[in-house]
Amino acid sequence: MQKSVLFESIKIGPMELKNRFMRSATTSAWSDDDGIIRPEIVELYRKLAEGGVGLIVKGHLYVSKSGKVHVGMAGIDSDSQLPMLKRLTDAVHEHEGKIVAQLNHGGLQSMIDPAGPSEYKGKGWEGRELSSEEIWGIIEAFGDAAERALEAGFDGVQIHGAHGYLISEFLSPRLNRRSDEWGGSLRNRMRLLIEVYEAIRGRFGKSVPIMLKMNCDDFIPGGFGIEESMKTAVTICRQGIDLIEISGGGLGLPDDLKHMRGMRGLARSTDPALKEASYAGYASRIREVAKPTPLALVNGIRSRICMESILKRGIADLISMSRPFIKEPDLVKKLQSGQDKATCTSCNLCESEAFFSKTMLRCQSL
Ligand SMILES: Cc1cc2nc3c(=O)[nH]c(=O)nc-3n(C[C@H](O)[C@H](O)[C@H](O)COP(=O)(O)O)c2cc1C
Repeated sequence: MQKSVLFESIKIGPMELKNRFMRSATTSAWSDDDGIIRPEIVELYRKLAEGGVGLIVKGHLYVSKSGKVHVGMAGIDSDSQLPMLKRLTDAVHEHEGKIVAQLNHGGLQSMIDPAGPSEYKGKGWEGRELSSEEIWGIIEAFGDAAERALEAGFDGVQIHGAHGYLISEFLSPRLNRRSDEWGGSLRNRMRLLIEVYEAIRGRFGKSVPIMLKMNCDDFIPGGFGIEESMKTAVTICRQGIDLIEISGGGLGLPDDLKHMRGMRGLARSTDPALKEASYAGYASRIREVAKPTPLALVNGIRSRICMESILKRGIADLISMSRPFIKEPDLVKKLQSGQDKATCTSCNLCESEAFFSKTMLRCQSL
């Protein structure tokens, strides 16, 4: 057994975690047409919990059918989905794991009713503008979904505010061109996020941890950038969020692809030990303003040296990973017994068109 900061416990709001590893939300894309998860998904989460990861974030769950993003996405908009979700949380708890539900609405990326802050017509993305009444309906749906999550045995919730789904679309000046109270100034573009947070907090008070996954940058011209991300972090931390997971991108509008690589480069740290962590540079800037709220950092992190450096330099408190846990659900135990890095090569076959939502999630390179 190796001694390391990676295996120290930490408290996130009222929740105690046994180590600093977080499994970032990863959809299995294998639920049935009613958004009910299949038994294979329960087994995947059982393995993750057995593998010792401190905090598991369940793959995104749609809060209303209109926000469903892809075939096989799980839902939490109906009580009929709860018995299977309960089996999943029970499986995690049997192995002393902790699990939170990631709540999402796909916005312009919805496969049912693509709609966002403003009408969008471009290559790949197309959708209509939501009315203020519809926006309030979605906020209510986030609150209802959070209540269902607790009923299903989750230990908390994570609001999906990243990757170009509805909340991140509202934050992004590129996609949000509204002139009413939901658009224009950053304060107005942040309103949906704050209202969703308040709708959830209002139902539970501080007894339940509420987390946020947020972009440090959209990495598209005219998008939500690091300066606005820092200001948003300050506001949501003051509101009382329990943890922010720093991610980025996801607004891969085909017209912008040529700009994205250069913009992404700026988010990295110049510190060689942090090179693989795609957003470590921007995360350290968010850290300065978000203190003392705990942060998690995701994307590209693979080696123990990088993981320990992130914690020791105080850039984040949790090391979040997605693809490495698809290949090695027992990665935490392996690191604890001396393995020096995850064996995932980020080949991305797991999310390729050939396999995503056509087979149960698994590492296709094995
Ligand atoms: C198959 C697959 C499914 C994913 N599903 C989600 C999801 O449901 N919610 C989310 O916020 N991110 C999702 N992501 C993104 C990951 O959480 C993570 O941010 C990204 O893969 C970068 O981290 P990594 O380098 O450790 O894989 C998914 C990624 C993959 C590969």
